[in-house]
Amino acid sequence: MNKVYISGIGQTPVQEKWDKSLKELAGDAGLLALNDAGIGYPDALFVGNMMSATANQQLQLGALLADWLGFHHKPALHVESACSSGSSAFRAALMAVASGEITSALVIGVEKMTDSPSAEITSSLATAADADLEWDMGVSFVALNALIMRRYMFEYGWKHEDFADFSLNAHANAVHNPYARFQKAISRDAFLQAGMICDPINLMDASPVGDGAAAVVLTSRPTRSDRKHVYVAASSSMTDTISIQNRKSASHLLAAEESAKKAFAQAGVQPKDIGVFEYHDAFSIMAALSLEAAGFCEPGQAPHLAKEGKIRFDSDIPVATMGGLKARGHPVGATGIYQILEVTQQLWGLAGPTQVKRTKFGMTQNIGGSGSNITTHILKSE
Ligand code: COA
Repeated sequence: MNKVYISGIGQTPVQEKWDKSLKELAGDAGLLALNDAGIGYPDALFVGNMMSATANQQLQLGALLADWLGFHHKPALHVESACSSGSSAFRAALMAVASGEITSALVIGVEKMTDSPSAEITSSLATAADADLEWDMGVSFVALNALIMRRYMFEYGWKHEDFADFSLNAHANAVHNPYARFQKAISRDAFLQAGMICDPINLMDASPVGDGAAAVVLTSRPTRSDRKHVYVAASSSMTDTISIQNRKSASHLLAAEESAKKAFAQAGVQPKDIGVFEYHDAFSIMAALSLEAAGFCEPGQAPHLAKEGKIRFDSDIPVATMGGLKARGHPVGATGIYQILEVTQQLWGLAGPTQVKRTKFGMTQNIGGSGSNITTHILKSE
């Protein structure tokens, strides 16, 4: 396959954004990315979004945004895979450019969650679970993750307080990210004393809902010579059973492991070569499971990495360098694109105060459902 470059990026801050509609939010990020890449119209548009049908009474996001952005008579596609919708849209665009069918694509991830009351958005989020086996039983996404966390703590002997450093690290990094939902550091006490949402998950274990859009431009040739070129060295997607109860193990993300292994093989690298890893810390348990499944440590050992400071931006395995899902925020269908955009900034060397040291390879892992649809990308600078 041909090399595909990330030539432009654009994002909106993750906020409660009540004065903009879904298409306005997405359009803002898309135009910023096209401007950044220095191109007018792309050959095609790809949109990642999970909940526009229920939260915004809108489907047809491909045609909607092509129309809004003035891309008349261009192909446009809406891709949905729950919380990994953004990276799935990115992967679809990548395939189209890599195959040679088109030479440029705009990929937008967008989600507008805060127009809906909490109960409604919680119900919409739960549609990423198995309707017969999970949703019908009244299990929310926080509850599913609480079950996983409880099992993990039982198997490996960890206590709730052992997860604090995932959250502390994310919030500390988000202080420097003007696009983050919470630009505020938190103390260990704040983590320990936060209100319980679904035992053992408390407020500081959970990513917040939010409105946001992020966009990247993919091209078959670099469009700018004033910064390093970043291209996609690997792209891999994998599924697992949608319900947790049918998995061999609730405390291991098999699809994440398979997806990461394939990506490492494609890029010809190992975990130790990765200079920055934007993982899917929707809940602190997912941060731990993602690090383990991707091969950064043995199963059951991720809390050690966090406690020893090894996940800080200036240490061995920098994660959540712009705040991650926990503090940058998790507008679900946009998250995969925020991750790719943030790793691109790191590899360009333009990440500001949380710039990582090693800028050759960066990795993203975007988790759909409670581990049922996982996409891993490895980016490389040259
Ligand atoms: N972390 C830290 N603070 C948070 C927060 C979070 N995740 N979520 C909300 N807050 C803060 C708000 O800023 C607000 O603070 P303020 O009173 O100082 O203004 C306060 O908590 C209450 O906010 P509110 O929006 O009313 O919270 P809520 O109780 O409706 O929702 C959660 C909180 C955690 C339940 C909700 O964000 C949630 O469901 N998160 C998980 C989303 C999810 O499942 N995503 C998919 C994952 S795969």
